[in-house]
Amino acid sequence: MRFDVLTLFPEMFHGYLGQSILKLALDAGLVEIHLWNIRDWAKGKHKSVDDRPFGGGPGMVMTPEPVFDAVEDVRQKDPTLGQLVLLTPAGERLNQRLVRELADCRRLILLCGRYEGFDERIRLGLKPREVSIGDYVCNGGEVPAMVVIDTVIRYVPGVLGDMESVTEESHSSPGRLEYPQYTRPRLFRGMAVPEVLVSGDHQAVARWRQEQSEARSRDTSSPPPEASQDEKGGGDHEE
Ligand code: 6GU
Repeated sequence: MRFDVLTLFPEMFHGYLGQSILKLALDAGLVEIHLWNIRDWAKGKHKSVDDRPFGGGPGMVMTPEPVFDAVEDVRQKDPTLGQLVLLTPAGERLNQRLVRELADCRRLILLCGRYEGFDERIRLGLKPREVSIGDYVCNGGEVPAMVVIDTVIRYVPGVLGDMESVTEESHSSPGRLEYPQYTRPRLFRGMAVPEVLVSGDHQAVARWRQEQSEARSRDTSSPPPEASQDEKGGGDHEE
């Protein structure tokens, strides 16, 4: 799977790209990530990528021309059709269902914004899929883009050593949380590993995990991921 990331701060990705699972996936050629600096498409001696908003108001707005040029050029770097994704707090909320859907694309072109926002013509003209990672505001789309990459690559065949870990973990079925896990030592600071896990009775272990998982899913204060779908794109968290 190929990702193209368009950002004003490509350096923000360097630490992330060097970490374990992603590093292995990149080295194995399962995932390709290409970083592009939108400023490289800016014109004029100041290489400006933003400007003051028409009508007044605080902050700066990302100007359309370098963004259009960057997206159009980057698209042409590879014949694979890419889904353009704009990272914005006003977008559709990312959940496991959307992650899976994005993972069906062979190529994602992730457009990260900074400043107060994008010129509206970027949305109107490029018609990106708009994605938000939650109801809070980040300083830019870079961290959200890393969240998208981090969640999506888990569905790329071969990226996770054990494919079972995709299906068995939390959120694979909406609202379902993972059962508690234990490893050695059996007793730690007065807290013992539940007897059933060391009993050798596989059926009892499976039953216990099922119960624990259901209890956790009931107790959680947050609603199941699918239940909050109708709130997507809410405007009360906009800058
Ligand atoms: Cl995608 N971008 C920004 N700037 N803030 C966010 C977000 C995205 N998702 C949640 N907050």
